[in-house]
Amino acid sequence: MRIDTARLVMDEMTDADLPALRAILQDPAAMVAYEGAFSEAETAAWLRRMRQRYADDGFGLWAVRRNGEMIGQCGITRQPIEDDEVLEVGYLFRRDQWHRGFAVEAAKAARDWAFDTLDAPAVWAKIRDTNLASMNVAIRLGMTVRRRFVTRYRGVDMPHLGFAIDRAAWQARES
Ligand SMILES: CC(C)(COP(=O)(O)OP(=O)(O)OC[C@H]1O[C@@H](n2cnc3c(N)ncnc32)[C@H](O)[C@@H]1OP(=O)(O)O)[C@@H](O)C(=O)NCCC(=O)NCCS
Repeated sequence: MRIDTARLVMDEMTDADLPALRAILQDPAAMVAYEGAFSEAETAAWLRRMRQRYADDGFGLWAVRRNGEMIGQCGITRQPIEDDEVLEVGYLFRRDQWHRGFAVEAAKAARDWAFDTLDAPAVWAKIRDTNLASMNVAIRLGMTVRRRFVTRYRGVDMPHLGFAIDRAAWQARES
């Protein structure tokens, strides 16, 4: 699996990407919406989970590379929202790479891949209600807010908003 955009390459993370993953998941500022920095064990578990997703589903959060360096993660995962399951675009970037349009560029490519390759009826983004930067990415992907729900994560009840774009809106936007 490999997706090329104007400035970025997205492909599967391997064990060699663990240092780059630490620079994101162990940064308290990047992980505010996840209730703080990950430990080493949580970081290793995250990578194992992504590799399991690649094996089980054929997709997951991929490495986002710029000039060969992993600067973020972005991709598609299956996610529960209350009793439903949706396809979600996810994005997490290293802090020194924010505000350069990389998250939007990668997330648009992942969104398009889900519509083109998985025949997705809709692509969602589950966003904690405090995460304005993430909401702005979702809005730039053409998503609108559809649902409110609470997700329990790391022992904390977190109010979330469900953003989505459905296939018809995506086709109208792309044509
Ligand atoms: C959410 C997150 C990925 C958003 O990243 P970002 O860097 O703000 O996103 P982008 O740069 O792609 O897009 C938006 C910004 O880039 C600017 N931009 C867009 N294209 C650009 C370009 N070609 N050159 C320079 N700037 C550009 C936009 O104007 C916008 O700027 P602004 O945020 O100052 O208004 C980032 O904050 C992050 O990694 N957060 C931590 C993890 C997280 O919470 N993930 C989401 C969980 S739901």
